[in-house]
Amino acid sequence: MNEQQRASGKITTEAAPADKKSATGEKDYSKYFQRVYIAPSLKDAKRRGKEAVRYLKDFSIPDHLRGMGDGRKFYIRTYGCQMNEHDTEVMAGIFMELGYQPTEEPEDADVILLNTCAIRENAENRVFGELGHLKSLKREKPDLLLGVCGCMAQEESVVNKILEKHQHVDMIFGTHNIHRLPHILYEAYMSKEMVVEVWSKEGDIIENLPKARKGNIKAWVNIMYGCDKFCTYCIVPYTRGKERSRRPEDIIREVRELAAQGYKEITLLGQNVNAYGKDFTDIQYRFGDLMDDLRKIDIPRIRFTTSHPRDFDDHLIEVLAKRGNLVEHIHLPVQSGSNQILKIMARKYTREQYLELVRKIRAAIPDVSLTTDIIVGFPNETDEQFEETLSLYREVEFDSAYTFIYSPREGTPAARMKDNVPMEVKKERLERLNKLVSEISAKKMKEYEGKVVEVLVEGESKTNPDVLSGYTRKNKLVHFKGPKSAIGQLVKVKITEAKTWTLSGEMVEENVPVEVK
Ligand code: 5AD
Ligand code: SF4
Repeated sequence: MNEQQRASGKITTEAAPADKKSATGEKDYSKYFQRVYIAPSLKDAKRRGKEAVRYLKDFSIPDHLRGMGDGRKFYIRTYGCQMNEHDTEVMAGIFMELGYQPTEEPEDADVILLNTCAIRENAENRVFGELGHLKSLKREKPDLLLGVCGCMAQEESVVNKILEKHQHVDMIFGTHNIHRLPHILYEAYMSKEMVVEVWSKEGDIIENLPKARKGNIKAWVNIMYGCDKFCTYCIVPYTRGKERSRRPEDIIREVRELAAQGYKEITLLGQNVNAYGKDFTDIQYRFGDLMDDLRKIDIPRIRFTTSHPRDFDDHLIEVLAKRGNLVEHIHLPVQSGSNQILKIMARKYTREQYLELVRKIRAAIPDVSLTTDIIVGFPNETDEQFEETLSLYREVEFDSAYTFIYSPREGTPAARMKDNVPMEVKKERLERLNKLVSEISAKKMKEYEGKVVEVLVEGESKTNPDVLSGYTRKNKLVHFKGPKSAIGQLVKVKITEAKTWTLSGEMVEENVPVEVK
């Protein structure tokens, strides 16, 4: 722990009592052991320091922790976004280096982690519900280690609630502490107390963390961490820290390696990918430059999520218009169609600026698929303001949208605003919006009927093993009958039927040209 990290939380460090459970057999490890309690602090999480990010390649498992997982199994349940899914892959990689084996059954596991999401209240309620269920498992298996990590662990109020009401939890660690997992596990084995290690300020970027990737067709690649936008409703800038970009050469190397391993699609991840590079002080290199370099790598598809309209610059549009492996799909969260609401949300663009951006993107990539995120029922949203969201949606004709009812997040500015919109009204607005989203999606999907698309086949359909499923470049889910040998391949499919959210079709010869991307 360095001084900066020490300064970033409430810390108590105690020497270990001598009579603790042994983590790895008979040896006495107490000389390594310190009980550390570092709780999150909202005040510190808000700060944005000027410290330069350090890029480290020093992750290694200390000798005394090697083999800690031999004969043991781990289970990680992931909530929330793709960033969390990818963090789970990293933690799985660390577990496996420690000798643990994965299991799909929580009942079978020696360690269970809940990798949590804090974005809305219902995500948090699900985790607290799960903690309740796991209490009985913990009673049956007292040696089971139960951990809570991810964005909820970064919240002061959540940690306090767990300390008060869920004493059966053995460890809590934050999004900046993932690389500390071996030590946290070790301390949890040795300690009778709950181990809490949550750094409130982001740490360094550690480049050589192991990853146990899920699947061998599509892969996630982090390009940046954190968010400095501080939209007034959003907890992410507090749970994920300040914007830090990975160095271009590290990202390019990772994508090249994945291509060489046979992966067909990469999704670049960041809370705000097009702020990429803004934090570099030594080079002028932004997201458009990165995409232009990745375009030259021999891998069929590259996507990214999520982008912010404010940072979507002309150079990026110009590069995306070169297509190749850069797909024709942009997820561009708008959140609201009302200028007053956008202002209170601190989105820092107007409806007109958003529409102008859409116009520019469509001028460069006419067939682009645009999807978005929308929040309804922001504090004091009027009917007229909500209507403006509907009218913007109609005007843009998004391919689809993730829609949410505003959920107050403790510590954010919006959570302190008085709100005069009853929940019933918010629910009605969500229903009306969802109806429009379905109508426009159905209309857009209909245009695919009779056309040939390119599908990256991911596997058997979830509901019918005779049917294969995969996605087009524009991220449309396609079901079709085909040989199992097509799994992992790019194939051509002629669409015979369009539903609201999915397409069905028949595989056609490889030499038939693609009619719609
Ligand atoms: N309430 C509801 N939705 C939210 N989002 C972020 N914070 C909140 C909140 N407090 C939504 C935004 C964002 C998406 C990931 O989640 O639409 O783009
Ligand atoms: Fe949250 Fe806004 Fe940052 Fe997105 S850009 S993560 S909505 S603060």
